[in-house]
Amino acid sequence: MKKISILILLVCISLSGYSTEGDWGKTGHRATAEIAENHLNKKAKKAIDEILNGHGLAFVANYADDIKSDRDFRQYGPWHYVNIDPDEETYIAANANKEGDLVQAIRKCVAVLKDDTSTKKEKEFYLKMLVHFVGDLHQPFHTGHSEDKGGNDIQVRWFNDGSNIHRVWDSEMIEFYQMSYTELAINTKNLTPAEIKTIQNGKLLEWVYESRAMAEDLYSGVENGDKLGYRYMYEHMPTVLDQLQKGGLRLAKILNDIYS
Ligand code: ADE
Ligand code: ZN
Ligand code: ZN
Repeated sequence: MKKISILILLVCISLSGYSTEGDWGKTGHRATAEIAENHLNKKAKKAIDEILNGHGLAFVANYADDIKSDRDFRQYGPWHYVNIDPDEETYIAANANKEGDLVQAIRKCVAVLKDDTSTKKEKEFYLKMLVHFVGDLHQPFHTGHSEDKGGNDIQVRWFNDGSNIHRVWDSEMIEFYQMSYTELAINTKNLTPAEIKTIQNGKLLEWVYESRAMAEDLYSGVENGDKLGYRYMYEHMPTVLDQLQKGGLRLAKILNDIYS
């Protein structure tokens, strides 16, 4: 009887697609996409409207996760993160993961969208991927260490449940906050045009290093077995919100540049 119960449980878990390796949860990715949508210029809006057949960016923000477990799309698995280990100073293209990473992914998406010879289908696929990946870039643990799979192997308790520090940053804090993606997008910090410009300035690799520096800081504040709850939440939720906003502003910048 016990064996059958365990078997049923395992089947349920595998059917539910449960995984310890997620991304900003669905809400986080949609919030970033919605913030980007609110900062698109007219040209970008029009081009994107055509590519996505009227759907907004938030609508497609989780496509890259939805296809993850499909064997036909397995090759895109490593595109969701970039690991620069502590003993490395910078991202060096020659040492980069041959199977792709977040940097190569974003560059590929931009190249396809800029290329006049790309088909509409290609543009649609890579636009959806881009919306997702710029979100991932702003989840610090997506630029973490390979040895612990970006924090996925650092087990913690989140209130009374088992979790890991990557997942706390992907989704646990955002879910605990209980705001919809539109509420998150509306309740962003008021920024002056100059502040927005400062956030949008810079190159992709500078954004990677910024995220990676944050990851280093967060690594030093957590240990395997830690019990995290309200204190972790109020200390770090402001950073989560800032990252969602930065991701949105920078996604808008990338898209506005493509269609300028
Ligand atoms: N998700 C799965 N593997 C990862 C890794 N090595 N770094 C960051 N995120 C990941
Ligand atoms: Zn993740
Ligand atoms: Zn992802």
